[in-house]
Amino acid sequence: MTRISWFRGAEIHKSAYLDEAVFAIEQATVFVQSWLYLCHGSQIPTAGDYFTTELASQPLVAIRQKSGEIKVLYNRCPHKGVKVLAETCGNSGRFLRCPYHAWTFKPSGELLGIPVKTEYDPDVLSGCEASAGMKVVENVVCYRDFIFVRLSDHGLPFERFFGDSLSTLDNMIDRSPQGTLRVVGAPLRHRHHCNWKMVMDNQTDTCHPMVAHESSAGEAINLWAQAHPQRVQPMAVELFSPFMSSLTFFAEMGLRVWPNGHGHTGVSHSIHKDYSAIPGYWESMVESYGEERAQQILNDTRHNTVYFPNLMVKGPIQTLRVIRPVSASETVVESWILELIGAPQKMLERTVQYNNLINSPCSMVAHDDVEMYERATIGLKSQASEWVNIARLYEPGERWDRTSQMSGTSEAEMRNFYAMWQRMMEAGNEKS
Ligand code: FES
Ligand SMILES: [Fe+2]
Repeated sequence: MTRISWFRGAEIHKSAYLDEAVFAIEQATVFVQSWLYLCHGSQIPTAGDYFTTELASQPLVAIRQKSGEIKVLYNRCPHKGVKVLAETCGNSGRFLRCPYHAWTFKPSGELLGIPVKTEYDPDVLSGCEASAGMKVVENVVCYRDFIFVRLSDHGLPFERFFGDSLSTLDNMIDRSPQGTLRVVGAPLRHRHHCNWKMVMDNQTDTCHPMVAHESSAGEAINLWAQAHPQRVQPMAVELFSPFMSSLTFFAEMGLRVWPNGHGHTGVSHSIHKDYSAIPGYWESMVESYGEERAQQILNDTRHNTVYFPNLMVKGPIQTLRVIRPVSASETVVESWILELIGAPQKMLERTVQYNNLINSPCSMVAHDDVEMYERATIGLKSQASEWVNIARLYEPGERWDRTSQMSGTSEAEMRNFYAMWQRMMEAGNEKS
């Protein structure tokens, strides 16, 4: 691997999307040195509850301890390497038991028992790495119930890595009158035949909805225009329609970039701003926060917040998407929903509807995007050009080490993302 300048200001080299060697470096650098979202505390509320996943190609398990603390372990038996927990979630009971030879471990990962332990010389065993039990992930932060890990000793500390971008998570949490969220159900999982970064790029691409989604959102508007004037507008029409907003609308809503590749669209307003009021919600917010603070929380209608490298949060509609790279040309998108504890049930109903209508594998809207990713994957393999263009509202000498705001139709957020990506990739490539 000799190419290290995949990103040259306003263009990305196509190998960043197609090449398995680039993918391998990404996993070993970008993904292990970044803070990655693992799960939400509400998924594992009681002692012994666990959630398993894979991050940066590492099998992991987050498990609630008796003390209430959450530990993250590598889901790998120290004996012969078997993945100890096969289910996505469950409760370990008092201990974890490997299904191969029944070695057991405390929920903290510590080795508890080995069948017929007398057949091991105690000195030999204590000198073996296996005697330490299941390996613990050291860098874990639980930020207001959102659990993040960093799998390398190298990398920025949590607060520096995210900086002010945590304000999006804060706002989503504050939208609960009790300041508490709960993950509801399993995520919708959708496999795409494309590179994971195409999905990330799309989250802040405000110039595509009115074009790519015309056939779905545009049709919803057309159908509704023909409906009887007395009919009550279905929630689906309310959720579909804003996708057809004009370029001027998206430009004026603005976007903000933060250092280290994070950013969000929708600074002054967004497509989530004008949903109809849900009876009782405003009152419960005022009761909890007072009128001024409640207004401040609900006025912050950010559109999509991208957390580098692979998390997207929509605070006003309480959805969260984890973009999971599988290979250079295979990605699984998980769309999770959260309930605002203390808010009327109708809020959750709207969130469920949004996720089903917009993010689901059965959604009409999501397929518009997926088709574009897959067609881009085909097009990029051609000899026609080596580069992908992200020059919209590019300004030579752009700097990404500070927070800044610009027009919502700028591709600055993608450039901010790739500036961070390139920095981490270069550091990794020099070592390889
Ligand atoms: S591999 Fe786990 S007990 Fe043997
Ligand atoms: Fe889209």
